[in-house]
Formats: sequence, structure tokens, C-alpha cells
Amino acid sequence: MIIRGLIIVCLVVFLGSNNLAAQDFEYVGSKKCKMCHNKAPKGAQYKQWAESSHAKAMESLSAEEAKDPTCLKCHSTVGHVDPDLVATLKVTEGVSCESCHGPGSKYSPKSVMRDRAKSIAKGLILPIEEVCITCHNDESPHFKGFDFAEYVEKVSHPDPSK
Ligand code: HEC
Ligand code: HEC
Ligand code: HEC
Ligand code: HEC
Repeated sequence: MIIRGLIIVCLVVFLGSNNLAAQDFEYVGSKKCKMCHNKAPKGAQYKQWAESSHAKAMESLSAEEAKDPTCLKCHSTVGHVDPDLVATLKVTEGVSCESCHGPGSKYSPKSVMRDRAKSIAKGLILPIEEVCITCHNDESPHFKGFDFAEYVEKVSHPDPSK
């Protein structure tokens, strides 16, 4: 009986701390990524994103629409994530890095980022079609259809040194 009780206590503590860890992944905003991902020889991902329609998605909305949660949920990362996890991410960043790559507070240290498995364990996402179609779908009033291969080509920012 005592042993069974202990096992249950351990399980509760384990699951409890796991939950806490998951909640710890916060949204830090694209400026944090810029310091390491803006060098031309490695693909200048920040610059490429900043020039894309994702970074400018809030500019497509009027002042009124920019406060409307139904528009925000696709036009800004802030609009579709848990508000409690928004640390330094700004609504004006539009569809920011973390809409596609997941909340960066724990994977962005260099020691973690160098190791793909560790980064993924700390919240990094290497996006597939499923991520895109959470926004690219007919709920959008301006939906133009979505072809993954064609669309990913337009927004991809590979590292040419790899
Ligand atoms: C302290 C520097 C640093 C910061 C900050 C940083 N990264 Fe990285 N990132 C790296 C390094 C180093 C790699 C390993 C690949 C390389 O050498 O470029 C990497 C790799 C990646 C990869 C590719 C992973 C793979 O396995 O293919 C993605 C995607 C990525 N970072 C996204 C981000 C995003 C999004 C942010 C901001 C939330 C961010 N990074 C912040 C240094 C950083
Ligand atoms: C959080 C929502 C969201 C996610 C996730 C998302 N997008 Fe987008 N995307 C948008 C919005 C909003 C626009 C339009 C921005 C504007 O012009 O106001 C857009 C525009 C684009 C455009 C430009 C289309 C055009 O007609 O000019 C391409 C290409 C694109 N997205 C590809 C992708 C791909 C590929 C993925 C997944 C890897 C993806 N998007 C993920 C919201 C999203
Ligand atoms: C389900 C996600 C989603 C919602 C909700 C959404 N949008 Fe968009 N919006 C997009 C995407 C994705 C695009 C890019 C067009 C495409 O490639 O389909 C876009 C494009 C636009 C554009 C550019 C027009 C064009 O022809 O490219 C405007 C303006 C716009 N949206 C306004 C709004 C407004 C206003 C609202 C709220 C009433 C809204 N959107 C809600 C996803 C969404
Ligand atoms: C619309 C979604 C989207 C946004 C926004 C986005 N990325 Fe990516 N990113 C991708 C996709 C798709 C890949 C390719 C993933 C793969 O290789 O499986 C990628 C790959 C990368 C890589 C790896 C490149 C390589 O070849 O090793 C880095 C680094 C990266 N992104 C950084 C960023 C940073 C930094 C931002 C913001 C400034 C950002 N991304 C914004 C979709 C996005």
C-alpha cells in the first residue's frame, strides 16, 4: 500500500513538472532570432522574413480590423497563441518566426540550437504543411487556395552554406 502510494505521488510530481516545463516555452519575438539569423552567408533568415508578406500581415488590416480577434488570429502570431505565454513578442510583428517555428524562449540559446534533437525537445518546430493550413484555409475572407510546394518555395529561407 505504502509503495503504491509512493508511486502515485511520484507520478503526480513527474506529470506536474512536465506540464510546468511545457508552459515555460514563451514567445520572445523575431528580434531575438535576428541576432543569430541575419548573416548573409547563412541565409539572412530575418531579412528574408522581414521583406515577406508574413512580416507585413498587420499592414493589410485597417485600424479597426487590427483589433478584431477574428482577423488577428491569422494576421499576427500574438492572435493565435496563449496570451499567458507572450513574453516579448509584439502584435505588430505579424506572422512572426514563432508562428512557424514554435515559442523560442527555451530553444534559442546557442548550446541548444546547435543540436536539432535538443531544440525540438525545447519547442522548436520545423514546419510542415499542417502548420501552414492552420491559416491558409477557406476561413480566410481572401483565400486564394494553397499549394504547399508552390507556397513554401515563396517563403523559404534556406542556409546556402549547408
Ligand atoms: C544565440 C544564437 C541563436 C538564436 C538567438 C536563435 N538561433 Fe536558431 N540556430 C542557431 C544555431 C547556431 C543553429 C544551428 C544551425 C546553424 O549553425 O546555423 C540554429 C538553427 C536554427 C534552425 C534550424 C534547425 C534545424 O535543425 O534545421 C531554426 C529553424 C532556427 N534556428 C530558428 C530560430 C528561431 C525562430 C529563433 C528565434 C526564436 C532562433 N532560431 C534563435 C542559433 C540561434
Ligand atoms: C499564423 C498564420 C499563418 C501561418 C502559420 C502561415 N501563414 Fe502564410 N500567410 C498568412 C497571412 C495572414 C498572409 C497574408 C499576409 C498579408 O498579405 O497581409 C500569408 C501569406 C503567405 C504567402 C504570400 C501569398 C501571396 O498571395 O502573396 C505565402 C507564399 C505564404 N503565406 C506561405 C506560407 C507557408 C508555406 C506557410 C507554412 C510553412 C505559411 N504561409 C504559414 C498567415 C499564415
Ligand atoms: C484563417 C486565417 C485568416 C483569417 C481569419 C483572416 N485572414 Fe486575411 N489573409 C489570410 C491569408 C492566408 C492571406 C493571404 C492570401 C492567400 O494566399 O490566401 C490573407 C490576406 C489578406 C489580405 C490581403 C488581400 C489579398 O488579396 O491578398 C487582407 C486585406 C486581409 N487578409 C484581411 C483580413 C481581414 C480584414 C480579416 C478579418 C475580417 C482577415 N483577413 C482574416 C488569412 C486569414
Ligand atoms: C511561414 C512560416 C515560417 C516563418 C514565419 C519563418 N520560417 Fe523559418 N522555416 C520555415 C520552413 C518551412 C523551413 C524549412 C524547414 C525544413 O527544412 O524542414 C524553415 C527553415 C528555417 C531555418 C533553417 C534553414 C536551413 O536551411 O538550415 C532557419 C534558421 C529559420 N527557418 C529561421 C527563421 C527565422 C529566424 C524566422 C523569423 C525571422 C523564420 N524562420 C520565420 C518556415 C518559416
